[in-house]
Amino acid sequence: MPVSDPHFPAAHLRPPVNWINDPNGLVFHDGHYHVYFQYNPHSARHADMHWGHFRSPDLLRWELLPVALVPTPGGDDEGGVWSGNAVSTDGGLIAFYSAKRDDRWWQPVASAVSHDGGLTFAKHPGLLVPQPAEGTSMFRDPYVWRDGDRWRMLVGAGLADGRGAAQQYLSDDLEHWEYAGPFLARAPEPLPGGADTEEGWECVQYADFGDGRGVLLLSAWDPQGGASHSAAYPGRDHGLHFAADAPQRLDHGPEFYAPALLHAPDGRWLMWGWVWEARDAVQVGAPSTWTDEVGWAGMLSLPREVTLGPDGSVRQRPARELDALRGRPALRAKGQVTADAPDTLGVTGRSFDLTARLHRGAAGGAAAGLRLVTSPDGSEYLDLALDAATGELVVDRAHASGEPRARGGSWRIPRTTEPGGFAELRVIVDRSIAEIFLGTGESLTLRFYPLGEEPWRLQARATGPGTTEFEAQVWQLNPLGIQDRSDRRGGPA
Ligand code: FRU
Repeated sequence: MPVSDPHFPAAHLRPPVNWINDPNGLVFHDGHYHVYFQYNPHSARHADMHWGHFRSPDLLRWELLPVALVPTPGGDDEGGVWSGNAVSTDGGLIAFYSAKRDDRWWQPVASAVSHDGGLTFAKHPGLLVPQPAEGTSMFRDPYVWRDGDRWRMLVGAGLADGRGAAQQYLSDDLEHWEYAGPFLARAPEPLPGGADTEEGWECVQYADFGDGRGVLLLSAWDPQGGASHSAAYPGRDHGLHFAADAPQRLDHGPEFYAPALLHAPDGRWLMWGWVWEARDAVQVGAPSTWTDEVGWAGMLSLPREVTLGPDGSVRQRPARELDALRGRPALRAKGQVTADAPDTLGVTGRSFDLTARLHRGAAGGAAAGLRLVTSPDGSEYLDLALDAATGELVVDRAHASGEPRARGGSWRIPRTTEPGGFAELRVIVDRSIAEIFLGTGESLTLRFYPLGEEPWRLQARATGPGTTEFEAQVWQLNPLGIQDRSDRRGGPA
C-alpha cells in the first residue's frame, strides 16, 4: 500500500495502486462478504475493466484476493468486464456482468460461475441477454435476485424517448431470460436540492423491504456529461412494474456514485458506493496529471445500512460493525460559541470518527458549525456549518487544499435540522474523504486533499448574531485490517 501517500485511505477499501470504480457482485457467500469492484490492473485511468476482489467474514478483517474476472481477448467482453451483481446458489456463486466491446453501444448481459467460494470463475458460453429491446438507447449493469420460485433481473437503461429505465427480465433457471418490459421508466424528474434523475440509469439495484415495499437505486447518467449522482425511488413492487414515489437524491455530495446493495444474512441491506477523485480532471475518468502522478484513483465508500423510514424516506447510516474501528478518544467538548470567538476543541489525526450536535438558534440568530483546520497557519480547512437562514448543513471545501489542482465547491443537505433546531451528525474522515451522515438518514460524501501534516485541529464556530450551542466527540479511526493476497495462485489457503 502507498502508506507514504497522505491521501491514501486507511479504513476504506481499494487496492494499493491503479484505477477502481463501481462495487460489483456484492454478496454473502461461503461465510464471507464478497466485494468485487471495477478494476484496471494496468493504470490509474478507466480502461480495460476487470473485477477485483475483497472478502471479509465481518466487514473489518479483509483480504484482497486475485482478480476474479478478466476480459477474454476476441470474446464478447474483450473491451471489459463491466458492472453487475452476484447471487449465491446451491450450484455455486453466479456473477452477472455487462460484456463490453468497442464495436457495439450496448453492453449485453453475461454470466460466470464460481465453485471455489468466489475466487475463480468459469464464464458461461454466450450471452444471456444479447441485445436490448427495441427503443433502448443505453443498456448495461444487470442486477439479479430471487423472488419466490423465479429469478428477476433489472438492467440499467436509457430509452430513445429520453426516459431513464430499469428493464426487467424473468427466468426459472438463471440461464434463459424473458423480457418483461420496463420495471420503471421515467422522464428526468427533479431531485431535492437540485439535479434530476437524468435520461440514462446505470447500476440499477433493488432492495426488497417486505410487504411489497422496496427501493430502486439508480445512478443518473447524463448523455453529455457522463456519471453524475445517484438517486433512489421508494415505492411498491407490482411484479411487472414498480409504483414509484417521489425520487430522492441518495447522497448530497459530489463524489458518490454507482452504489450497490448486499443483502446481509441478518436481513440488513448494506450498500457501498464508488467515491471518485476530485483532483484536476473535471470529467470523471478523464486523464488527470495528478492522479497519474500518485498512481491510484477511486475508493469504495464505507458500508452503509439502508432502511426505509416511517415517512417513506430512504435512510443511511454507517454499518454498525464500523463502531469497532473507533480507537482512542481524541476529544470531547460541549458549549456555546459566537461568530467572533471560534473555539478550538482539540486535535485529531488524519482518520477519525466524529459525532456532533449543532444548534441553529431562532430565526435571524446564530447557527453552529465545525471547522477542520489542516495547516498550522489556519489557511487550509474544511467547513461544516448550519446555514443560519435555512438550517441546511453546508459543507465547503473551497479552502480544503493548498494544492491548486484540488477541486473546490460547496454542497448542502436540505432538511437538516430536527425538532428543537439541532442537527445530529456523524462524520467519518479518512485522509482524503469525508462521509457525513445526519440523524435524519441523509448523507454527503466528498473528497478533499489537505497538504498540512497532522495533528489537525477541530474548531467550533458560529455564523449570524448571538450565541449558539454545539457538542462534539471524536475518536481516532483505526485502519481496516487488509491482507494483500492478490498475487496468490491457486485456491484458498
Ligand atoms: C458506472 C459504470 C457502469 C459500467 C461501469 C464501467 O460507473 O459506467 O455503468 O458498467 O461503470 O466501468
